[in-house]
Amino acid sequence: MSGSDERGWAALVEAARRARERAVAPFSTFKVGAALEALDGTLITGCNIENATYGLTICAERVAMFKALSEGHRTFTRIAIVADTEAPTPPCGACRQILWEFGGDLQIALANLHAETGRHALKDLLPLPFDARLL
Ligand code: THU
Repeated sequence: MSGSDERGWAALVEAARRARERAVAPFSTFKVGAALEALDGTLITGCNIENATYGLTICAERVAMFKALSEGHRTFTRIAIVADTEAPTPPCGACRQILWEFGGDLQIALANLHAETGRHALKDLLPLPFDARLL
């Protein structure tokens, strides 16, 4: 892995940490940040947004992806996800589906406020995916 690639990962994790501070999570108090990199190098961030119905909560990863799509981005390379936990916080099942459908086999870095805690390929987190190729 090249030095510039590692610097890119560090920048992505930092962007996710900053996004996490903007989380709207009054019900769970579990704040999550995400930063998604588009093919042209643009970073698009997201944080989780909760509401009084609970069920309409949207995770940081989906906020980042939907923001990116709405800004016209269509191809993505990697995403960083940050929570204030010792153990890694991996994307939930709904986010895995959305990230797969719009981002393909993204590289994923999981991190907390101090360090990276894991790196994965999305295909390993979502084996045997359902997507438009099966329609
Ligand atoms: N959450 C995320 O934003 N991303 C994840 O990867 C895991 C869970 C949010 C949803 C909810 O607001 C809170 O964390 C607790 O589940």
